[in-house]
Amino acid sequence: METPPQKLPKTFAVKSFGCQMNVYDGERMAELMTGEGLTPADAADADLVVLNTCHIREKATEKVFSDIGRMRKDRAGRGAAAPMIAVAGCVAQAEGEEIVRRAKVDVVVGPQAYHNLPKLVAQAAAGAAPVDTDMPVQSKFGALPARRKVGPTAFLTVQEGCDKFCTYCVVPYTRGAEVSRPFAAIVDEAKALVDAGAREITLLGQNVNAWRDGDERGLHDLIRALDKIPGLARIRYTTSHPNDMAQGLIDAHRDVESLMPFLHLPVQAGNDRILKAMNRSHTRDSYLRLLDRIRAARPDIALSGDFIVGFPGETDAEFADTLSLVDAVGYAQAFSFKYSPRPGTPAADMTGHVPAQVMDERLQRLQAALNRDQHAFNQASVGRSCDVLIERRGKLPGQMLGKSPWLQSVHLTGDHAIGDLVPVTLTHAGPNSLSAEPALSFAA
Ligand code: 5AD
Ligand code: SF4
Repeated sequence: METPPQKLPKTFAVKSFGCQMNVYDGERMAELMTGEGLTPADAADADLVVLNTCHIREKATEKVFSDIGRMRKDRAGRGAAAPMIAVAGCVAQAEGEEIVRRAKVDVVVGPQAYHNLPKLVAQAAAGAAPVDTDMPVQSKFGALPARRKVGPTAFLTVQEGCDKFCTYCVVPYTRGAEVSRPFAAIVDEAKALVDAGAREITLLGQNVNAWRDGDERGLHDLIRALDKIPGLARIRYTTSHPNDMAQGLIDAHRDVESLMPFLHLPVQAGNDRILKAMNRSHTRDSYLRLLDRIRAARPDIALSGDFIVGFPGETDAEFADTLSLVDAVGYAQAFSFKYSPRPGTPAADMTGHVPAQVMDERLQRLQAALNRDQHAFNQASVGRSCDVLIERRGKLPGQMLGKSPWLQSVHLTGDHAIGDLVPVTLTHAGPNSLSAEPALSFAA
């Protein structure tokens, strides 16, 4: 059955789920729709709701369908008009037409096609239910309007897609092959973000440290160029693959002051048989030796990672190797997940799926170890002097919240504006945040 004709929407909301790349894509979709004359609104009232979805684990995917159901029910309960619903992001790419069949949404648009959103919305308003999951050779970036970001921290996608094909992961299928954006386009976008108020830029990519400009320049060259932009105080990048951690990038952590001492470098597991079955193409030992080189270049670097427990066939002894790797590294923070079989990936067809109860227990033990190390890292930071970049107001009067160079959340009181870099001494550490006092100034 065709969807009945709708009116062209006047207001819109974008709800992004999942990774930071989705947050970035969501911002660009919002800029695009604003440029088309639509006004941002609450998702509860907007004429058009864009669900920018995540497909990485089964739970994330199911959330999309329950969200659509809940949105329709809430509005019907209030007697409000049904919104036009567009499904974007990785679920859109992976499921395509199936979403229209299963959930009767109005538009389905993949991560490489969202520059077409205005056209697709117009088609939906005329009664069609368009599905655009093309991965065109011409990048979408050229078709998007200029950045309007005003907050102190900004994301900037420099690379998309993944050629690594870890056996559990859908990303190479939903985001496609590794593609790097051109050097000049990135530098221009960074300058526009700084002009619009950004003091910190996080460079994004599924394999951000695989960024290349032809065969010549790597991510470290890009970082060194961005370091020269006046007003840009901090540079970060995520997510990196251990095998793309070039010496030039490690050297940049030693030399480039605006490159923050933080590195998210997923390892996933600590046992070589499991790493091989995951097709990670690094070993426990090669990962640990790489960290030694990075710490030699930047001794205070805060390390972060991703972990999967209960990969098919993982034994208790193999899981124990993940715990001992965590002990050996001492992560400042990390993300950990239960293995979730994804249709179409090689691991989904492997034997030896680990029972749910065993996965729960392993995840609890791993998270206890990671929380312990995060708290220890925070405690070891007490007494350090650093700058805090103020991001927002806290809940208490006069309280402000910001980030340390090591990406810790820091509370402080005082007359500071959002976007200020405040010199402080870190005074107290909790498991998830720290407090700070203004650094003593020794003015004569
Ligand atoms: N099951 C569980 N976790 C996964 N990740 C990716 N695919 C899966 C999966 N099928 C995790 C990895 C990755 C992070 C973004 O999500 O740890 O680094
Ligand atoms: Fe997925 Fe592996 Fe690529 Fe990361 S490196 S996006 S886990 S396939």
